[in-house]
Amino acid sequence: QEVSKQVSRAAVVTIMGHVDHGKTSLLDYIRRAKVASGEAGGITQHIGAYKVHSDRGEITFIDTPGHAAFTAMRARGAKVTDIVILVVAADDGVMPQTVEAIQHAGAAGAPLVVAVNKIDRPDADPDRVKQELTNHDVIPEEWGGETQFVNVSAKTGEGIDELIEAILLQAEIMELKASSEGTARGVVIESRLDKGRGPVATVLVQSGTLYKGDILLSGVETGRVRAMLTETGQEITEAGPSTPVEILGLSGTPNAGDEAIVVSDERKAREIAGLRQAKEREAKLARQQS
Ligand code: GTP
Ligand code: NA
Ligand code: MG
Repeated sequence: QEVSKQVSRAAVVTIMGHVDHGKTSLLDYIRRAKVASGEAGGITQHIGAYKVHSDRGEITFIDTPGHAAFTAMRARGAKVTDIVILVVAADDGVMPQTVEAIQHAGAAGAPLVVAVNKIDRPDADPDRVKQELTNHDVIPEEWGGETQFVNVSAKTGEGIDELIEAILLQAEIMELKASSEGTARGVVIESRLDKGRGPVATVLVQSGTLYKGDILLSGVETGRVRAMLTETGQEITEAGPSTPVEILGLSGTPNAGDEAIVVSDERKAREIAGLRQAKEREAKLARQQS
């Protein structure tokens, strides 16, 4: 058996935290885009996945609309996140969903980097946040613990460079690697039906390299990759580990957390997808009858 070459890959980072603590704003500042202001009611409507390039390295960010999607993905056995950025608003402190996020990260085995956000606010109290998180066994390095805390403001940009540094440092410690050769394998982050383009799936490639023209199988869907786009809409022809891509060409919309794998035989792919569809119908019938 040939052992394929392992290369280092970008960390995949999920931002979690309590409602309105600034997850989207923070990510926006990092991307220098303005997603939050364009969202209906300022609430995240979808998961976005973006690769951010800095002088010191690359980071792949996943913006979750809440913990439900994260939970759904984990329930499907998908291990997506390497590092969790826990956002805590300095004027609000630890809240119920902050605690949930700590539990999710722990269960997923993903280390935390704490971003104490809204540090620009006059009522910001970062020391209180530290104290409160210590009660949940999240202990800052400067207090003898293992967790990096960074004070940030998604409004002024204060501390954002330090946050990036902290993530890259954490990633370095983890020595994240993947094979860039062989059959591409990844996980679906989100999918939707686009009026003009048909089914669009955002897939995070986890190992191997995905090429335009590959036959992809994901959940009950299959199809040839007709086009691959980055988060900025740029068309690309190949995507390696830790790269999120929008994929056109699937027969339908797979579920978040579904595995996506390249198969060599189109007929075989259709056969497997068909069997899975039949199984799904059976399970649905059984549920209706019970
Ligand atoms: P949900 O996705 O709804 O859970 O919210 P979120 O965590 O993504 O928070 P969002 O980015 O939508 O920010 C919530 C509010 O806080 C918005 O009004 C932001 O403008 C504001 N906000 C976010 N970050 C900062 C910050 O650093 N300083 C100040 N002053 N306001 C901030
Ligand atoms: Na919000
Ligand atoms: Mg948001």
